[in-house]
Amino acid sequence: MRVIERLRLDTISSTYISGGEILPVLDCISLTVKEGEFVTVIGPSGCGKSTILRIAAGLIKPDQGEVYKDGAIITGRPQLVGYMPQQALLFPWKTLKQNAALPLLASGTAKDKAYEKVEKMLPLFGLDGFANYYPNQLSGGMKQRAALLRTMMVDSNIMLLDEPFAALDALTRGKMQDWLMQIWEQFKRSVLFVTHSIDEAIYLSDRIYVISDRPGKNAIEQKIDLPRPRRIKVLATAEFANYKQLLYKALE
Ligand SMILES: Nc1ncnc2c1ncn2[C@@H]1O[C@H](COP(=O)(O)OP(=O)(O)OP(=O)(O)O)[C@@H](O)[C@H]1O
Ligand SMILES: [Mg+2]
Repeated sequence: MRVIERLRLDTISSTYISGGEILPVLDCISLTVKEGEFVTVIGPSGCGKSTILRIAAGLIKPDQGEVYKDGAIITGRPQLVGYMPQQALLFPWKTLKQNAALPLLASGTAKDKAYEKVEKMLPLFGLDGFANYYPNQLSGGMKQRAALLRTMMVDSNIMLLDEPFAALDALTRGKMQDWLMQIWEQFKRSVLFVTHSIDEAIYLSDRIYVISDRPGKNAIEQKIDLPRPRRIKVLATAEFANYKQLLYKALE
């Protein structure tokens, strides 16, 4: 089978300018996401992970390097991709269903059809029965799942997820990881995922890029060869521990 490259960041360097100061953020970063692949970026706070996702979505034009989506250059041109920012917000005056349906409505789907599609997905996201709730009537975890559902509703073969579970307690987080994996296995989207958690990265990923402290550079790239579907017990295996040690070393 031919492997299609969904996304490629090729030797990307990027700076921010604030208060007249130039802040180098990314230094010659390269990464790829193949079709159906789950790829994670991990690195210390401030190393430029969120910036990588913004560049991948075409929201920021880097100083150097190109971004390719399905083989075409898209550098600095906003794309229709499922992008869930680090602080994903729901509109407080819209219900869960209305929030989640936004990408569908924006791409011209009729309201009835859009709501129907969202309603069908609610059980999978653990949100069954909450379609007409407003964000302030949902728990933190439910809000994050709703934001994830909205991201899924974007008709795109790639999802960019920026620490979607960071604010959750360990138990809810574990559940959400399993949800995400189930959804990923079912829908076969390519995912570029950002996290601080080494365990989460190993558990979810096919490949992991470790990025060094700012300005972010490629430190190591690690393939995760744990069998799929993965279940929680894989965390207790020797292979998992080996990967963990490797990644801790790379992050030090
Ligand atoms: N809009 C901006 N203007 C100026 N500087 C910015 C802007 N966004 C980010 N930065 C700076 O760029 C650097 C990288 O930020 P970024 O958000 O990409 O890091 P990160 O790796 O996602 O961090 P975290 O793990 O804390 O989310 C930081 O030093 C930050 O202060
Ligand atoms: Mg970030």
